[in-house]
Amino acid sequence: MDLNALKQEAAKAALTELRSGMKLGVGTGSTVNCFIDALAGSGLSFDAVCSSSEATTERLQQAGFEVSELNDVGGLDLYVDGADEVDPHKRLIKGGGAALTREKVVAACAERFVCIVDASKEVDILGRFPLPVEVIPMARSYVARELTALGGRPEYRSGVVTDNGQQLLDVHNLRIVDAVGLEQTINGLAGVVTVGLFAQRPADTIIVAAPEGIRIR
Ligand code: 5RP
Repeated sequence: MDLNALKQEAAKAALTELRSGMKLGVGTGSTVNCFIDALAGSGLSFDAVCSSSEATTERLQQAGFEVSELNDVGGLDLYVDGADEVDPHKRLIKGGGAALTREKVVAACAERFVCIVDASKEVDILGRFPLPVEVIPMARSYVARELTALGGRPEYRSGVVTDNGQQLLDVHNLRIVDAVGLEQTINGLAGVVTVGLFAQRPADTIIVAAPEGIRIR
């Protein structure tokens, strides 16, 4: 089974978590795109749908959903999103698609966070995937030096501007044992918008699509 087929399986499995009338948050990425395609054919209707990126907003609208401003909706019942890495404690690395800050905000508003991944995203210890950090442009070099002092090798994601008008550093060579501590430390650096570690608010449920079938964690 190829990766795209697994992403579609994970996306379809997430439909069982949904009910009409919910307030739904939708993440970003190729797995979430499969989820939006599945949503479009589901017949479900929602009280509100909030998006974590311009790309997801466009795709939701193309699929016929009205997208609400998060500020107008209040709390969400459920957030569905993918991830770049998932550890055994349901902590995540996210931001490969540059949407980490809005994803973290939408996740924070949601009562439940269901993460949909293919089995290649599962790791014992986070850090094999370079950790994205969104920074304001004038702080990029300073933050990069601080990340180097923390043991990482930051790389500027050249040419990428986030939906918030900011820049990204991808931090290689990390072996993230204390994920909550590292999230707090990096978020505390002047000029950091947010780090793509989702440890303080991990996922509640992980739907893993593997060649042997769906696993719910
Ligand atoms: C975007 C993200 C995505 O969830 C993550 O990159 C996974 O993407 P994909 O489903 O394409 O593998 O964090 O910022």
